[in-house]
Amino acid sequence: MATILGLESSCDETSIAITRDGKLLSNVVATQIKMHQQFGGVMPEVASRLHAENILFVLDEALREANVTLEEIDAFAFTRGPGLIGALHVGMQMAKTLAMLYEKPLIPVHHLAGHIYANEYVKELKFPLLSIVVSGGNTEFVYMKNTMEFEIIGETKDDAIGECFDKVARTLGLPYPGGIPIDKLSKEGKHTYKLPTPLHDDSLNFSYSGLKTAVINLVNNEKARGNEINVPDLCKSFQDTAIGMVMDRLDKAIERYDIKQVVLAGGVSANSYLRERMHERLDNSPIDLIVPPIWCTTDNAAMIAKLGEHLYEMKVFAPLTISSDPNWRIDKYKEY
Ligand code: KG4
Repeated sequence: MATILGLESSCDETSIAITRDGKLLSNVVATQIKMHQQFGGVMPEVASRLHAENILFVLDEALREANVTLEEIDAFAFTRGPGLIGALHVGMQMAKTLAMLYEKPLIPVHHLAGHIYANEYVKELKFPLLSIVVSGGNTEFVYMKNTMEFEIIGETKDDAIGECFDKVARTLGLPYPGGIPIDKLSKEGKHTYKLPTPLHDDSLNFSYSGLKTAVINLVNNEKARGNEINVPDLCKSFQDTAIGMVMDRLDKAIERYDIKQVVLAGGVSANSYLRERMHERLDNSPIDLIVPPIWCTTDNAAMIAKLGEHLYEMKVFAPLTISSDPNWRIDKYKEY
């Protein structure tokens, strides 16, 4: 085992974490959410600039909390992708600089694989497993026959589920990130609006853009007719439909694959209705379920350092000429 420093800067959180022999020593997260809220979503250029402004303070704090010096770090792990190119670039440049200065390996980490492995802080992963990766930028069913083997068995053909929550929230005048107010308001609402569930093929793929457009059209049509929208009811109807699609694909995956454990990952895994449905479906089944604690669902570098430990053992190191990849696929995590 080793002392690993992880850096995360793929979207709107600047984070640095340090692990030693598998133990998390520090995990400092500087969130930019307040700044982006005024735009109703993440402004990529603002995100890059704030990462550049904050990263040195975050580094100082992470080292201080862990009581570790940079000379003691055995490898520098950073999020190479997927994410916003400018934002990724800032974390990568910092990791490269440190790796070069201290002559230690540079480890490129896949952000979504990090979300999956963050669950190791909670419970041991059991293979073969199915990870349900639901976030602002991705919606994927990832099948893992074994550790560090990723196969995408289903994915969105257009928008990600989190993006859909965010756009629906914006249409309803709710703040960013939209998943949180929709989740909250749904608890007061009833499923009264009928919404479409696109993509009725036999695959495990998803489509969320039709659902998003249906909500936007419904709101505009009701407004044009002078009718009031019942916001909690629309939130509940939308959330049921969006999460219902995940549950439908889960049933199909269970029929088709040998699955010992289901692991939730990504920002949307904070959704209380999704968590409830997962427990209902799996608690009395032979399949184990890991629902991450809320701190693991938001972006953080603890997950990058955790996966960095595995990659360190596997000696997956990158040259200093590596570049970030905003569209990096999880099944290509060793290719750069
Ligand atoms: O994409 P992600 O893992 O983090 C970043 O890369 O920043 O998670 C952010 C996404 C957003 O789309 C947000 O609306 C969604 O996660 N989210 C939720 C909930 N909390 C966050 N979606 C549904 N229900 C929630 N409780």
